[in-house]
Amino acid sequence: MTKASEAADAYPGEKRNLNLTSYNTLGVDATASRFIEIKENSELKTLANSGFFSRTKPCILGGGSNILFRGDVRVPVLRISIPGIQTIADTDSNVLVKAGAGVVWHDLVTWCVERDYGGIENLALIPGTCGAAPIQNIGAYGVELDQVFESLELFNLQTERFETFTHEKCMFGYRDSIFKRDLKGRVIVTSITLKLNKPPHDVNTSYYALENYLNQQEITSPGINDLYHAVIAIRKSKLPDPSLIGNAGSFFKNPVISKGQFNKLKENNPGVPSFPAGEGKIKVPAGWLIEQAGWKGKKVGNVGTYDNQALVIVNHGNATGAEIYNHAMNIRESVRDMFGIELTPEVNIVGG
Ligand code: EPU
Repeated sequence: MTKASEAADAYPGEKRNLNLTSYNTLGVDATASRFIEIKENSELKTLANSGFFSRTKPCILGGGSNILFRGDVRVPVLRISIPGIQTIADTDSNVLVKAGAGVVWHDLVTWCVERDYGGIENLALIPGTCGAAPIQNIGAYGVELDQVFESLELFNLQTERFETFTHEKCMFGYRDSIFKRDLKGRVIVTSITLKLNKPPHDVNTSYYALENYLNQQEITSPGINDLYHAVIAIRKSKLPDPSLIGNAGSFFKNPVISKGQFNKLKENNPGVPSFPAGEGKIKVPAGWLIEQAGWKGKKVGNVGTYDNQALVIVNHGNATGAEIYNHAMNIRESVRDMFGIELTPEVNIVGG
């Protein structure tokens, strides 16, 4: 493409050769050849009408908290910044709350807790945007998004139309949905709608770390506000703040293995923690496996594994995407060699 035809192709407000360091929480210095910010649904239609989606397959970016730029990104980056939170239905016991894909997830949690709408308080402080939340079915402290999910709206890049997806159509699983599989890269989530509860709330304190914290604080009948603050305190103590030290939360998913494989693992490692994961399946914390393999708190060049949580890979400053990727692959190899278990990245790996 000549410079002249490239310029003619440029979308209004599009940026060229944009540095992405502040657009990814790992703080990787990568460049996007083209960068377009989407603030309203109509802009997607305008892009489609210009033939954009038939020419190119963009990289869709939300808060950049679950992405590793392994190198520069040569496909156009579309950053989804659609704002707005509103209550769209209200009964005696429930509300339907709709949030634009660009709303910061924690801001939605805070907005709901302030209005006494229960259901997502355990998901406080998870980095990222509302549009990214259903992609990996975010979860923490005994709650997953799909438990409160009602529907979402998306733009289908193939049909170039807006569609509504119900809960069933999203095919949620553990850190998984249809958007990570069949529809990967084919849709752009524009809003999500959650069904939340009015008081009296049914709070979820089942997660051991949360239960311990509440006991220590002598909070005997916690409300959603207590849970919100407890989760924030626990996360702050265990997980690094991306504004201080680059990271993308859990780098890998917790592997789910068969009961047979787990029994063998337990024979040699009686202390292995585990959680039931459905019929004949056991979930083993990847953080434990990584710690056993000697990686907890370990620093290699500019990259490291966090001191308090081995599942989090951190950028000690100026790490390249390739360095972080190699570090992750070395961890994966050690765990495979030691336990015969294959770790799967939870973060999306893009570019390079
Ligand atoms: N563990 C270790 N060493 C470590 C870390 C963990 O031995 O360095 C073991 C401990 O036995 C601990 C157990 O792993 O009791 C579980 O650890 P933790 O409660 O920290 O949870 P996790 O399974 O490591 C998951 C999510 C987190 C989420 C927490 C709390 C995944 C991949 N990660 O971590 O999500 O905050 O539970 O619910 O499922 C994220 O997705 O980015 C994320 C941070």
